[in-house]
Amino acid sequence: MKKRVAILISGGGSNMEALLRDMEADHPAAPVLVLSNNPAAGGLAKAAARGIATACVDHRPFGQDRAGFEDELNRHLQAAAPDIICLAGFMRILTPEFIHGWAGKMLNIHPSILPLFRGLHTHKRALEAGMAVHGCSVHEVTGELDGGPILGQAVMPVWPQDSAESLAERLLPLEHRLYPAVLRRFAAGDRGKISHFPALGVAG
Ligand code: GRF
Repeated sequence: MKKRVAILISGGGSNMEALLRDMEADHPAAPVLVLSNNPAAGGLAKAAARGIATACVDHRPFGQDRAGFEDELNRHLQAAAPDIICLAGFMRILTPEFIHGWAGKMLNIHPSILPLFRGLHTHKRALEAGMAVHGCSVHEVTGELDGGPILGQAVMPVWPQDSAESLAERLLPLEHRLYPAVLRRFAAGDRGKISHFPALGVAG
């Protein structure tokens, strides 16, 4: 029986697309829902075009009522009954209560070499820190922001001419390789770490 996967997005959903593409092949999991907090998320149309069920819970009407927003998210999730939830460019902070409800079943991709640079603006912070390498991490989601067990990381060089924008652009293809590889293993019950070091070019 394939594992059922729900994917949460807030934007364009390029990581979501990479996961959906990979699950179209022979795979231990299958997508059952793409859920967004943003009615304008471009990823919703991309998922629908692939025949995947979508739903949206706009967080804005809930204001500071995080519990109310999450209760509505859970209404959609409980109907889809996922075995695994993948956060993929999902930009809302989830409460410990919500996370506890899906403990051991939720993954996230974060654009840094965790535990470095938890939180936002990771590319800018990596440049400001003078990093020689940068990368992304897929981890299990726990109550600690970007702090759960690391399941995979991909690393690339930082070039002298890099900006935060160029780092983000060069990192996305690595994210699109790493997240599907980690989900395949996680869905097959393997929580071993994987790493991906595409040819680490030497800066000119
Ligand atoms: C990516 O940098 C990802 O690491 C972060 O959100 C950004 C956009 O992701 N979580 P996507 O294109 O919406 O998948």
